[in-house]
Amino acid sequence: MPTIGIDAIALAVPEGYVELAELAEARGVPPSKYVEGLGVSQMAVAQAHEDAVALAANAARRLFLQARIDPSNVGMVIAGSETAVDHSKPIAAYLHGILGLPSRCRSYETKHACFGGTAGLMTALDWIASGSARGRVALMMCTDVARYALKSAGEPTQGAGAVAMIVSENPRMLALEPGISGSYSRDVHDFWRPLYSKEAMVDGHYSVQCYLDALAGAYSAWSEASREAGYHRDSIVRRCYHVPYGKMAKKAHRHLMSIEGKTEEQADASYKEQVATSLKLPSQVGNIYTGSLYMALASLLEYEAADLEGKRIGLFSYGSGCTAEYFAGRVMPGAGLFVKQQKLAEPLAERRKYTIPEYEAIRGADYDVDRRPVEQLQVNGAVAFLGVENERRVYTA
Ligand code: CAA
Repeated sequence: MPTIGIDAIALAVPEGYVELAELAEARGVPPSKYVEGLGVSQMAVAQAHEDAVALAANAARRLFLQARIDPSNVGMVIAGSETAVDHSKPIAAYLHGILGLPSRCRSYETKHACFGGTAGLMTALDWIASGSARGRVALMMCTDVARYALKSAGEPTQGAGAVAMIVSENPRMLALEPGISGSYSRDVHDFWRPLYSKEAMVDGHYSVQCYLDALAGAYSAWSEASREAGYHRDSIVRRCYHVPYGKMAKKAHRHLMSIEGKTEEQADASYKEQVATSLKLPSQVGNIYTGSLYMALASLLEYEAADLEGKRIGLFSYGSGCTAEYFAGRVMPGAGLFVKQQKLAEPLAERRKYTIPEYEAIRGADYDVDRRPVEQLQVNGAVAFLGVENERRVYTA
């Protein structure tokens, strides 16, 4: 079987963010609760024109440019999202048009809360492994705008952003292991978003427990599959987790290490070595739902790819509701140089800070956004949602 995996990654984030220390002060909470207690320092805030389609299109355009991908070779585009813009027309269809993808291309959207992106990734992997791709590549998108009610406990765990990935044979970043993964599912009400609401509902502390239970279940299934395939669990040198907020990844790692029979001190020591780097970019963006695990992977590769070439890393994806998967991959030889050329973190450096009143005004404008008439915007060449005309969403070309 050829090597199959993640060939290239690119990120897109909204043009602005808030400092969580400032949000904490505005909410009458000690800043250390958000920054240290939750492990997030900045939170991306999407304006009305930065919807899930626009963010995804900007990430994909950057991917094509930076990694020199020929769009005519894309045979499948899947968009994972839990903040879709339409009940029927998928984000992937908009992307197909905006990006000029070929008509011989399968296109659809996947949903299972934050797991939607991983569902697509696994499908892309199997599509290539089965031979159906016939040399073509899959464009895998994760795109979301995470919103909770203002002044709620979930407010500091919002964010917005997209991750675009190419899944292909002979990948330049991370070889995945088709067929070796561990799944876990259970019907729970930990986090959900009713059809009438733009804001998620959550049973916060229960959701943390559901995440940890799912991690234990998926990890045990993966360990069995991995053992049967002749891999050793201790060959994993780094671990990326779904990151709703940084502290959750720390809790997850402690839990996984306790399953491995390690003490809390041993877990915290290995957290510094195995997990901390993957949280650097997420701590500046917040929760991007489907893309959170893959932003953690991008963060790890951005800072450590050169040292990790040939090494195996573990990945945990969690989607509330709930479903989860544990899987692993090996960093490709040459990934260090390739990742450096990609400038993965560049979009984060180009942002501006919003004041808390600016952030609240942006959120206030959110509610009517899906009926807003088309308006012309100055967006510096980025793809933007311009408004609705004749019941159709209109984007910059
Ligand atoms: N200084 C430092 N730390 C402080 C502090 C201070 N002054 N005050 C409190 N803390 C610490 C607390 O000790 C706690 O740490 P531990 O968890 O290690 O004990 C941490 O800060 C958070 O404090 P609380 O638990 O009191 O916070 P909260 O109840 O206000 O809200 C939350 C926390 C439940 C996670 C809430 O932010 C929330 O509901 N978030 C959305 C749900 C979520 O993200 N769930 C994650 C699992 S589900 C999932 O992963 C899917 C998804 O993407 C949504």
